Amino acid sequence: MNRLIFRSTQELNEAGAGIIVGLLQTNPKAVLGLATGSTPIGIYEELVKSHRRGLVSFRSATSFNLDEYVGLPPEHSQSYHYYMQQHLFSHIDLPASRANIPDGTAADLAGECERYNKLLDDAKQIDLQVLGLGHNGHIGFNEPDQSLVSGTHVVTLEAATREANARFFDKPEDVPTHALTMGVGTILKAKTILLVVRGADKADIVFRALTGPIKTEIPASLLQTHPNLVVLLDEQAGRLFS
Ligand code: F6R
Repeated sequence: MNRLIFRSTQELNEAGAGIIVGLLQTNPKAVLGLATGSTPIGIYEELVKSHRRGLVSFRSATSFNLDEYVGLPPEHSQSYHYYMQQHLFSHIDLPASRANIPDGTAADLAGECERYNKLLDDAKQIDLQVLGLGHNGHIGFNEPDQSLVSGTHVVTLEAATREANARFFDKPEDVPTHALTMGVGTILKAKTILLVVRGADKADIVFRALTGPIKTEIPASLLQTHPNLVVLLDEQAGRLFS
């Protein structure tokens, strides 16, 4: 595990974007695994800047997003489709046909999970998977449980997750109860995983996940088993690591 602690959010964002830019410069056809939420927004901003400066192109790349809320159409301002357009896709040259996000409005959700798994299988391997971390230790929307699912599946969101994400919705009851998420098997299959964690409120969970026992009740603890894990922390999130 390669763990880096940054004094400022700006340095962290530049480092995160730099890793992605470096990958695309050496492998323009890279397959990227992308996350949403507040954590990667600054990294995406830096990626857009690099693209505008002509340092990186996404023309030959492919992306797979981790998750999407069930029931939110792409044009809903809190859907992850909308988020990706707003923060990244509308500013870069990644072909829409290769920007994959699970469809939370599919009538047949099990069929949609199968479709997404098939696309992931066809892509063989994600070269770089970006991850944020939930306060409960979730990665993607793989919530703490006695067992975890390997492939893309439908999840019931924990009350804590819905509360954490209520800040983005008008009313807490508007937060969807279910989501589609890539499974931990797919996440762990990525060649490199880039876990990004910011803020004092995540210091305890990131420390437990990366140094404590590996258990499905803290899904992110499984990342300890990954041979190529890069962790980017700000000082607040990294304060328990000496
Ligand atoms: C988002 C995702 C989630 C978030 C996590 C942290 O695609 O998969 O696991 O990364 O909930 O969210 P933020 O960054 O908003 O604290």
